[in-house]
Amino acid sequence: MNIERFDNEDVLASTLATRLIEALSLKPRIVLGLPTGRTPVALYREIRSRSQRGHVDWSQVRTFNLDEFVGLGAGDEGSYCSYMQAELFSHVRIEAINIGMLDGRAANLAAECARYERAIEDAGGIDIQLLGIGANGHIGFNEPGEALEAETHVAVLCAETRAANAGLFGGDLSRVPTHALSMGMATILHAREIVLMATGAEKSAAVAEMIDGPITTRVPASFLQVHSRVTVMLDRGAGARLA
Ligand code: PGA
Repeated sequence: MNIERFDNEDVLASTLATRLIEALSLKPRIVLGLPTGRTPVALYREIRSRSQRGHVDWSQVRTFNLDEFVGLGAGDEGSYCSYMQAELFSHVRIEAINIGMLDGRAANLAAECARYERAIEDAGGIDIQLLGIGANGHIGFNEPGEALEAETHVAVLCAETRAANAGLFGGDLSRVPTHALSMGMATILHAREIVLMATGAEKSAAVAEMIDGPITTRVPASFLQVHSRVTVMLDRGAGARLA
């Protein structure tokens, strides 16, 4: 793993925005895997402001988001679809048809997961997968446990993951869905390149276990150790427990 440390999250976000915009210009039909949550907010802010200021050609870019809550979809408060519209998609000239989202309202969730795997494959696979990490070591909604799922699947959310997402639902934990659809470990590891961002001291233990610990289903992010092109971008807090 290639570990990069930054003084703060703004420098991290600005560095990554520069790299992504460069990657877009080198490969206009790039396929991006995108995360939600608090961590990428600064990155999306930076990307949309640069896209508005300068010429960034989004016309052929394709994206696939990591996950979505079961029961929620486009236009729903708290959905990751709404988050992505607000943070990025409504500010750049991406084609709606090129945006890949899981539909948490699908009548047949297993079929929706299979559709997503096929769509990623049909797009030629993900070029750059961006990730955050949960304080419990999850990536996407691949939660710590006895076993992990390879492909896109229905995931049961851990209590701490639901608590971490309560902000999307006005702080009301009872409104946070109990299940989500998520790319699986193989879906993520098939990306040609992976960039994981982590900010804040509350991520420092998970980051240290991901990098220095054994590969274990107890820390799903530790599986990134088997991928040959992973960059981990950390602010001071998140990198505090590394050797
Ligand atoms: P966060 O979530 O960016 O809101 O901390 C990251 C994650 O849970 O993957």
